[in-house]
Amino acid sequence: MTHKIAVLPGDGTGPEVVAEGLKVMEAVAAKTGLKYELTHYDLGGERYLRTGEILPDGMVDELRGYDAIFLGAIGHPDVAPGILEKGLLLRLRFELDQYINLRPVKLYEGVDCPLKNKGPKDIDFVVVRENTEGLYSGAGGFQYKGTPQEVSTQVHVTTRFGAERAIRYAFDLARKRNKDKKLLLCGKTNVLTFVHDTWWRAFNEVGEADYPDIKREYAHVDATTMWFVKNPEWFDVIVVENMFGDIITDLGAMIQGGLGVAAGGNINPAGVSMFEPIGGSAPKYTGMNVVCPIAAIGAAQMMLESLGETESANRIEQGIMKALSSGKIESLSAGKMGMGTREMGDFIAKLASE
Ligand code: IPM
Ligand code: MN
Repeated sequence: MTHKIAVLPGDGTGPEVVAEGLKVMEAVAAKTGLKYELTHYDLGGERYLRTGEILPDGMVDELRGYDAIFLGAIGHPDVAPGILEKGLLLRLRFELDQYINLRPVKLYEGVDCPLKNKGPKDIDFVVVRENTEGLYSGAGGFQYKGTPQEVSTQVHVTTRFGAERAIRYAFDLARKRNKDKKLLLCGKTNVLTFVHDTWWRAFNEVGEADYPDIKREYAHVDATTMWFVKNPEWFDVIVVENMFGDIITDLGAMIQGGLGVAAGGNINPAGVSMFEPIGGSAPKYTGMNVVCPIAAIGAAQMMLESLGETESANRIEQGIMKALSSGKIESLSAGKMGMGTREMGDFIAKLASE
């Protein structure tokens, strides 16, 4: 079967890292017989500045026709905050109903961890972030804007349906993973007593009825950040609403070695999913061949896994792991890797296909 993949390199360093992800896929495909067809789209800040178009009419439906989307980064220094994020990234997540943002936090051997006395055996968990609701719903607005009486609201929207489907996905994942068979709900039930109460009840009702084999735990979001640093080994799968999930996964990225390795998937289990390095467009490093492509290569791995191409996905992960433990990569920070973006892509492509 030939997978149809839409490629959205996007802005900044997005195109550079996407190219390395595709390079590794190609090398692996030569070994495994993986078959795919790529279609590139120039969506992003440059196109918006040139044409005023963010996401042309009909494009979302066109993207619905693919088996997966491979995204680089969205965000441009000359475009005001919110325009591309809301008009492109969030719109795709919402309209393609990618209701899960899946963010593995895994520290590989050979990667520097900022936590004292923690190693790969301690840091291996997955955050299941709800991806279509909460403070990201867009509900709210201004009244008397620009006056001393200005009022602004940004409404957190949680639906039982939205919370429950994320929770079910997370329980299923906890069951599938070979770890502690436990799921932690991260919230703030002591203050946000409406929306997090919906989450809390959904979590317990679903867990009790359908996942008696999975242990349930709960932590407030502030405590969760503390434990990410103090006891990351406690976590297996975490389910969390959108905004808190955004915040804790940046911390998660740091404890796994930084944005250079952190990959994520925007998942619609019944539709088209979109995979991305979570690091952003890094404008100051654009075109310099200095940023780490491992996050994008990891995103390609997650994409192949979701397409059922387990052998190819495993090869990519093996390639990443061999590269990281080879001693040849000096750091994952931009400009300090001891090799360029392209050279690291070559290195991993070779290791993944040998
Ligand atoms: C992320 C990003 C996005 C988010 C931004 C760019 C809208 O930070 O994918 O985590 O907040 O979800
Ligand atoms: Mn984020």
